[in-house]
Amino acid sequence: MKYFLDSAKLDEIQYAYNTFGIDGVTTNPRHIMLSGKPFMKAITDIAEWIKSVGLEGIDKFPVSVEINPHLDDADEMVEMAKEVSAISPNFVIKIPAVESGITAARRLEKMGIRTNVTLVFSPAQAILPAKNGSLFVSPFIGWKEANGEDCREYIKNIVEIYKNYGFYKKTEIICAAVRTPKQIVDCAVAGADIVTTGLDVYKDTMKHAYTTQGLGTFINAWDNTITE
Ligand code: E4P
Repeated sequence: MKYFLDSAKLDEIQYAYNTFGIDGVTTNPRHIMLSGKPFMKAITDIAEWIKSVGLEGIDKFPVSVEINPHLDDADEMVEMAKEVSAISPNFVIKIPAVESGITAARRLEKMGIRTNVTLVFSPAQAILPAKNGSLFVSPFIGWKEANGEDCREYIKNIVEIYKNYGFYKKTEIICAAVRTPKQIVDCAVAGADIVTTGLDVYKDTMKHAYTTQGLGTFINAWDNTITE
């Protein structure tokens, strides 16, 4: 399973890469806003860092960048996607799961510009992105579970549909807006290819009270072991 960092903050991306070896990055307009930088500056800084560490190429370290969410016309979406994708060979263009978004993603994939169809909330929305060859599809988990839904069946259904029709591993399933280590495990059990979440959630995956307690026990033993 691949781990992507859901952030446009360069210091967080560098930390997550150096510490946990994350496999890629996803951003959205909210993350760009939180970076405290203008859109172009935020994505260019990420592109430059990628170059500086020799990670160029979508196969090495994909970075999803979402186009202006005001756009609702496929031609305009394609135009902006072309501009953004020209900035870095790592950029995957994030397009909303609406009719014009599917048209734009279909055209972009035919041009060789890779796409991530985002804001997916049902298995039905996940089918057209795969039929039209998008690189990624992003079913959201956290927003649904925050409203009391259990997403395990939802992810399993997308995985099963993809397996039934040969989409599995061609269009990779990014479970997005993941908020807890348990949700990471649920996505992994269901067979999702990727999870994307914030730095704190990855840090939380490595915390367990028994590990802390066990370390205490071993430290105590170490300190009380005879030396001669
Ligand atoms: C994923 O690609 C999305 O950017 C994301 O997971 C949405 O998460 P948010 O709710 O943290 O903005």
